[in-house]
Amino acid sequence: MQLKPALLGVALAASGAHALLRFACSQLVLERFDPLLNPGQVSPHLHQIVGGNAFNISMDLQNDLPSISSCTTCTFSEDFSNYWTAVLYFQHQNGSFKRVPQLPGQLLGNANGGMTVYYLQPGNGQKVTAFKKGFRMIVGNAMVRSFDGSNPEATSLNFRCLDANGGNGGVTGAPGTDSNSLPTQKCLGGIRSQIIFPSCWNGVDLDPPDHKSHVKYPVNGGCPSTHPVQVPQLFIETVWDTTQFNNMWPSNGQQPFVYSMGDPVGVGQHADYVFGWKGDSLQRAMDQCNDFGGACPTLQTQSIDAINRCTQPSRVQEAYDGWLPSLPGCNPIQAGPAKATMVTGCGAPTTWTGPDPTPGPAPTGNPVPTSQPPTPTNPAPGAQQTHYGQCGGKDFKGPTACQSPYTCKFSNDYYSQCL
Ligand SMILES: *[C@@H]1O[C@H](CO)[C@@H](O)[C@H](O)[C@H]1NC(C)=O
Ligand SMILES: *[C@@H]1O[C@H](CO)[C@@H](O)[C@H](O)[C@H]1NC(C)=O
Repeated sequence: MQLKPALLGVALAASGAHALLRFACSQLVLERFDPLLNPGQVSPHLHQIVGGNAFNISMDLQNDLPSISSCTTCTFSEDFSNYWTAVLYFQHQNGSFKRVPQLPGQLLGNANGGMTVYYLQPGNGQKVTAFKKGFRMIVGNAMVRSFDGSNPEATSLNFRCLDANGGNGGVTGAPGTDSNSLPTQKCLGGIRSQIIFPSCWNGVDLDPPDHKSHVKYPVNGGCPSTHPVQVPQLFIETVWDTTQFNNMWPSNGQQPFVYSMGDPVGVGQHADYVFGWKGDSLQRAMDQCNDFGGACPTLQTQSIDAINRCTQPSRVQEAYDGWLPSLPGCNPIQAGPAKATMVTGCGAPTTWTGPDPTPGPAPTGNPVPTSQPPTPTNPAPGAQQTHYGQCGGKDFKGPTACQSPYTCKFSNDYYSQCL
């Protein structure tokens, strides 16, 4: 593939950057968990989560993620942070929903879905101070349905309609034609969601109750006096492979995609961040590294195979794949422009199953890439997986047959489920 700057995600934003990390984080789990907004409770809508495997239904501020995680889905293997976003669904004109699969970011290898994560130094050259242990933040609001161009948070959430080569070119997808709502035309290379977090911190609060007021976007390139500490500008991209649905658009031509919280507009897209880099690794990287392709000698890296092997089982017993009669959770489609309202009592599961993530030691060196997959140990003869249980996937060792009347449905190379 030709490496044209115009092809690349944040080339414009990055050109003035003095520090830059760009790397893949594959999918850890898909789950109705949101430990920031709904700690200890099943979240109303489905998220895709990447990062360290200490991700949990609630995450104590005191947790030292590098020491209680045993793997991470990020190629920089000292990054045990968690990042999550809502999930995109296709709605067929017959009313059924199907989850839109994700593609890896360009030029970073074949990660299993997930996101491309950037840490940038904003263009003014001011020193970047890494986030502190316990730092968290949220950008966006799942209930919003109309775009407010005067709100810097709203303008920091957008979409790019990718061309057939997965690039940005073409009439509809050129940089500068990004849209704040989901693209209204068919995108031949899929849709990329682009989320920029605020990069100015008040220097005091790690995680205030609203998870937002401790950070602000820069004003005229600098941090406001109320939020004077320049932290890395975190930017995440998710590529939704909408192409397999392009021949199924409804006859009225209306764009058919909808976020997992029942948002067919797209302006309710949001992302959550729980900082979890080991020691001073992020600070060293921001002081030393500026590379678009994922190279940063001061950081430890791991192979794409290793990140794809780090997964968590989904703990809410419900289907989120295949053709579904409704979105997971209680999420009717609410198109706005008024804010969406929370709907409850639809009978969606509100409980989850164990086990909690097992605390484990963090890897101490560069994990040795194993070319041989571990030898699968066969499940007991005749063992059958229960409804919603995992029944297949790379390196999966459990039963591959499902209890009647369920069948094992392929979700991706790493996960099949009894549905
Ligand atoms: C995971 O969350 C549960 C429920 O809040 C809690 O009891 C448990 O201690 C947490 N585990 C870890 C490793 O954080
Ligand atoms: C809707 O269409 C899809 C694709 O043809 C099909 O698989 C699904 O079963 C349909 N749903 C209903 C309720 O007919």
